[in-house]
Amino acid sequence: MTADRESSDVFLPGPLDLVQLEDVRVVFDGFKALDIHYFGVDRNELRVVIGPNGAGKTTLCDVISGKTKPVAGRVMFDDVDITHMKDTAIAGLGVGRKFQTPTVFDGLTVFENMELALPASRGVWRNLFARISGADRDRIDAILARVRLLGVRDVLSRSLSHGQRQWLEISMLILSGPKLLLVDEPAAGLTDHETALTAELLTELKGQHTIIVIEHDMEFVRRLASRVTVLCEGKVLADGPLDAVQEDPKVIEAYLGRGKERA
Ligand SMILES: Nc1ncnc2c1ncn2[C@@H]1O[C@H](COP(=O)(O)OP(=O)(O)O)[C@@H](O)[C@H]1O
Ligand SMILES: [Mg+2]
Repeated sequence: MTADRESSDVFLPGPLDLVQLEDVRVVFDGFKALDIHYFGVDRNELRVVIGPNGAGKTTLCDVISGKTKPVAGRVMFDDVDITHMKDTAIAGLGVGRKFQTPTVFDGLTVFENMELALPASRGVWRNLFARISGADRDRIDAILARVRLLGVRDVLSRSLSHGQRQWLEISMLILSGPKLLLVDEPAAGLTDHETALTAELLTELKGQHTIIVIEHDMEFVRRLASRVTVLCEGKVLADGPLDAVQEDPKVIEAYLGRGKERA
């Protein structure tokens, strides 16, 4: 069930969109950090958001997760108006977020970290009194196999590489069963090999999860082979396949202009 939308009408709302931002504005001390006419992500879509530093990418995620509240506009998630809901309530609706700072417990094994990420009714509380079910254990192992962590399942998390930690965090997010995964700069600080594996992992998740990935590593973005939204100065500048947006004069100018500014 995907809406077949042409790049010419990308700014029009898609009726099936899981996430919808309509006329959303975010202002910090008089500075307009986000000014979005429409931004929508379809169910089971992997969307990449790119843009120069300070474009509003993280703010966009903050608005969807409820960490930041817009001064105007409406934010819909799964047909629920979440504009004025608390971040904890939005998380409860199924918005999962992978933060740039790690949420992995160093002193626990990979498997134990996964146990803690089970939905609350089955995870933390169950852990105190009983062993987790065989079904949950199988599910954890299946996910660990998918992210190539099964071999280090019983290893303490502190000895994982930076890439392995990222995959563990993404796995913990998947296990908690969110309807939407927000992933902010997953390739930051990774080696080329780890970056390639991370792109592969996210691509595998495509089609089974709705994912918004923020990234500025273009090689990584290319590997994801997904629809790209370009943000600049808080606005949606372009939207479509990577090749098309990279040829867009507005996008070239935004990146070059920024480059000059910083140089
Ligand atoms: N909490 C905040 N208070 C004031 N300004 C902020 C805050 N968060 C972000 N900004 C500003 O909003 C703009 C967009 O920031 P951000 O969304 O982090 O950009 P990006 O993730 O694209 O680099 C930047 O100019 C940034 O300085
Ligand atoms: Mg950011």
